[in-house]
Amino acid sequence: MSQRPDPAAFPADFLFGAATAAYQIEGSTTAGGRGRSIWDTFSAIPGKIRDGDTGEVAADHYNRFRDDVKLMADLGLRSYRFSIAWPRIQPGGRGPVNQQGLDFYKQLVDELLANGIEPWVTLYHWDLPDELEQAGGWPARETAERFAEYADLTAGALSDRIRFWTTLNEPWCSAFLGYASGEHAPGRHDQAASIAAVHHLLLGHGLAVQALRGHGVEQAGLTVNLYPVTPVDDDPAVLDVARRIDGLQNRLFLDPVLKGAYPEDVRADLAPLTDFAFERPGDAETIATPIDVLGVNYYSRHRATVSAMPGVAQGGVAGPHGDPTAMGWEVDPTGLTEILVRIKDDYREIPIYVTENGSAYDDEVVDGAVHDVERTEYVASHVAACADAIEQGVPLKGYFLWSLLDNFEWAHGYAKRFGMVHVDYATQERTVKDSGRWYADFVRSHRDLQR
Ligand code: FCB
Repeated sequence: MSQRPDPAAFPADFLFGAATAAYQIEGSTTAGGRGRSIWDTFSAIPGKIRDGDTGEVAADHYNRFRDDVKLMADLGLRSYRFSIAWPRIQPGGRGPVNQQGLDFYKQLVDELLANGIEPWVTLYHWDLPDELEQAGGWPARETAERFAEYADLTAGALSDRIRFWTTLNEPWCSAFLGYASGEHAPGRHDQAASIAAVHHLLLGHGLAVQALRGHGVEQAGLTVNLYPVTPVDDDPAVLDVARRIDGLQNRLFLDPVLKGAYPEDVRADLAPLTDFAFERPGDAETIATPIDVLGVNYYSRHRATVSAMPGVAQGGVAGPHGDPTAMGWEVDPTGLTEILVRIKDDYREIPIYVTENGSAYDDEVVDGAVHDVERTEYVASHVAACADAIEQGVPLKGYFLWSLLDNFEWAHGYAKRFGMVHVDYATQERTVKDSGRWYADFVRSHRDLQR
């Protein structure tokens, strides 16, 4: 075992938690008046999801949420990050609230609060109401306006009991995997549309933050997925690929939100695809509406090379160093410290929460236990990387393990397991993995220091 974190390195109010997302765990996709989302439609198309899996049952959390909250309480989690399914609140993406949908989240939140667990909500973790996709989806400006309306309705009902609000989860994925590579719902292959989607996602974020303010929300922000980008060598062509990947992956999102403008070099890179005609006066200011917290999802480091890869002009991402996870992702805790420090150095000292970090491995249940040595090592070393960032002056306030439960891993279906808790999909039995036990012990020892 390499580096083990010291609980005393984390401030007393540091939020240690776990994260999930609605479509990945809830199931019950037609219950309680829920409308159809782009993921229902996409996963019904043969060949899109491994083994033809869908989110119809998932981890059956919709029916088992009370047991799942009890499990979180037993594990000693201080916070739980979950997402609200927009089509449960507004089945067609517009119009009045579907009360049954809202009630589900009210009950979930009340159960969390009763167990002393801080609820952390994400409004959009990729499940766009299908009707809005039919009307143009994120490449259409109207979707940003509909999103703000949904944020307004939801905060109107839940801001009395939820402090932390995230607008979007990983807009990079929604825009580029959804509209350019087509690996994710809605599965479109239109590069120009994907850039318009970036803009309207960010615009929707800004408008939603304004709507949240109207309900007195004081902890609002968005979650981005960041990667340190390391060139494989110092060949000028490779350095330029690294600049481009960093631009599209990191700066295209951080700059408009934290600095008020898209990076000029990325605009120039994208000029062959789009003239940015979707921008209107005032949009830049809306996108840069002040936020209180920045959510960072971190999984791995990208290594830039010049070998041809789809999606990135004249270059791409090289293979991982060392033993990768079951996703093929390089394991590099130092990369987490690096991106956290970069936000402080290149942007500003905004409070940061690691809203996702975790790893998939091919787990086996043996005699009622899962001895996931590699995941335990992954979690411990990344929590230690958070301590390093704090030591370097980063205002890091929390860490959420991805994920509480094994779940529907998008295009990979149920084949990839990220949970600290194993789910047997045939019986829905939950088994805490060794990594989950390690994390629970660590969180408990942090809490005990406060006694
Ligand atoms: C992130 C997603 C999350 C999960 C992890 C593994 O990109 O936000 O839903 O799929 O990756």
